[in-house]
Amino acid sequence: MTATLSARAPAARPRSRTAVGAFHCTHRLDDGRRVVVRELNSDDADALAEAFRRADPADLHRRFLGWPPPLGVILRHLHHTDGTHHVALGAFDDDGSLVGVAQFDRSNDEPEAEFAIEVDRGWKSHRLGSLLLTDLLADARQCGIRHLTATYFLDNVPIVRLLRDVGTVMHVSTSYDAGIGSADIDLG
Ligand SMILES: CC(C)(COP(=O)(O)OP(=O)(O)OC[C@H]1O[C@@H](n2cnc3c(N)ncnc32)[C@H](O)[C@@H]1OP(=O)(O)O)[C@@H](O)C(=O)NCCC(=O)NCCS
Repeated sequence: MTATLSARAPAARPRSRTAVGAFHCTHRLDDGRRVVVRELNSDDADALAEAFRRADPADLHRRFLGWPPPLGVILRHLHHTDGTHHVALGAFDDDGSLVGVAQFDRSNDEPEAEFAIEVDRGWKSHRLGSLLLTDLLADARQCGIRHLTATYFLDNVPIVRLLRDVGTVMHVSTSYDAGIGSADIDLG
């Protein structure tokens, strides 16, 4: 099935924000655990490396749609976060461990970016994914992004449900091809 993409918003210059790290909030999950969500920066390399080592290989496979890149590549990406084109929101538990990441990246100043999300295996199914994605959508809109896209395996039920939930409050277009789904969230 292929749904029609909505009309593209005219290209808007990315809104420049005062500094990387502007996003900051606290959430209580449905099991009572608390997380602080904030933008990641190069100081978070150790936390990200630890989260990568802890991650379930099957989750990494779903996140990267295949074999994940080497850790060094992922850490280098952290140095490119600029609060406008490349943003990664990290959820930290009370011990300071990184337990979830939602990020968007855009290659130019067009109001479109690709996003990806991953929640630590010990934290899944407690609404952290939903909260992180909601935060990312708000942050992306602040940055002048109008369309967030994602690709995912069609048998990845949690992300399909997550996108369906987003679709109840904003327009989400989906298309499917050879076991891969593509979603375009219209941020208006
Ligand atoms: C996708 C992902 C981020 C969801 O995180 P999460 O914290 O478990 O999400 P939530 O608890 O907010 O649940 C979101 C939806 O998924 C459903 N869900 C969660 N775990 C599920 C499971 N194991 N089986 C089926 N549905 C599940 C929830 O019920 C919810 O749907 P609902 O609103 O209809 O009840 C997480 O599963 C993950 O990290 N997966 C690996 C990486 C990945 O696949 N990324 C997506 C591609 S970029």
